Amino acid sequence: MKDKIILGIETSCDETSAAVLIGDKLASNIISSQIEIHRRFGGVVPEIASRNHLTAVLPVIDEALEKAGIEKTDIGAIAVTYGAGLVGALLVGVSAAKALAYALGVPLYAVNHIEAHIAANFLSSPELEPPFLAVVASGGHTGIVKVADRNSFELIGTTTDDAIGEAFDKVARAIGLPYPGGPEIDKRAKSGKPSIEFIAHKKKKTCDISYSGLKTAVVNYLHGCEQRGETVNVDDVCASFQKTAVDMLVDTAIGAVKNAGITTLALAGGVAANSYLREKLAQSGAAYGCTVYYPPMSLCTDNAAMVCARARDMIAGGAVPARLDLNAASYLKIGG
Ligand code: KG4
Ligand code: ZN
Repeated sequence: MKDKIILGIETSCDETSAAVLIGDKLASNIISSQIEIHRRFGGVVPEIASRNHLTAVLPVIDEALEKAGIEKTDIGAIAVTYGAGLVGALLVGVSAAKALAYALGVPLYAVNHIEAHIAANFLSSPELEPPFLAVVASGGHTGIVKVADRNSFELIGTTTDDAIGEAFDKVARAIGLPYPGGPEIDKRAKSGKPSIEFIAHKKKKTCDISYSGLKTAVVNYLHGCEQRGETVNVDDVCASFQKTAVDMLVDTAIGAVKNAGITTLALAGGVAANSYLREKLAQSGAAYGCTVYYPPMSLCTDNAAMVCARARDMIAGGAVPARLDLNAASYLKIGG
């Protein structure tokens, strides 16, 4: 039994999380969010994030073990996000994981954050089997990833500039909405009409995508309104921006479906919590005969359950455990 118990740790940005996976059962997934702390700065302050991870990481691990009803000595393997993310934040989780793995004499697995976001789908949809295309939409990454088997990830298209979540957060900030802007725009868009046309640049013939043009179009619109003394309808701006941003990603995903001849799609990352993205991908996917999977909201934004899920597949695939000199990586290639 012991070798089937994985403790996962996630500290790549502003969520300190620890989870326990026992076989196929998620026994706990504790998330301590720093959103309130960073809100007053309008975004994540890396140094403050690291300090808060330091105070939270051990209590969060203890809580995850307690909720799962296990002792430290029951742990069979430790999995930790080692990149991509904020280096100072990642280092806290990586250091805690290395210390525990050494003290307990158990193997340590180094998990890629984006692969973990994708693997969250295996927890919520055990019937999901590769090959499929993962639509990754987070605060730091956006793209289409071909998942040929549970341990094979190939990036087939990505953003050439901002990630979609970054665009949501920057546009929200320009409108004056609090951090994190994604959920705020999602909420406000529900009462608005997508009546404003924001011209956005979309690279043709590839699965690449760009968000900086769209962000600039919204900022220019806001400045134009200000100069003309016009009142901005925030709900309509949110609905219009959200529709354009999401439609670009969904169109890219459908283009990839056609090219790859794969008709299973899985959504991943924090922006996968966006209600319009979930609805639009399901609708457009169905029109092309695709089956579309997405994790529940609690597994979309950063969490350690997805780290356990990824490690479970790495272990099943015979991955070599990480050495105890494992370092954090701010940038990591998907599939490499
Ligand atoms: O995956 P994640 O938790 O962290 C990264 O790995 O980056 O994603 C965070 C991003 C933020 O940009 C946040 O604004 C966005 O996910 N987000 C949303 C929603 N919930 C979170 N964006 C749009 N609509 C949402 N409902
Ligand atoms: Zn993430």
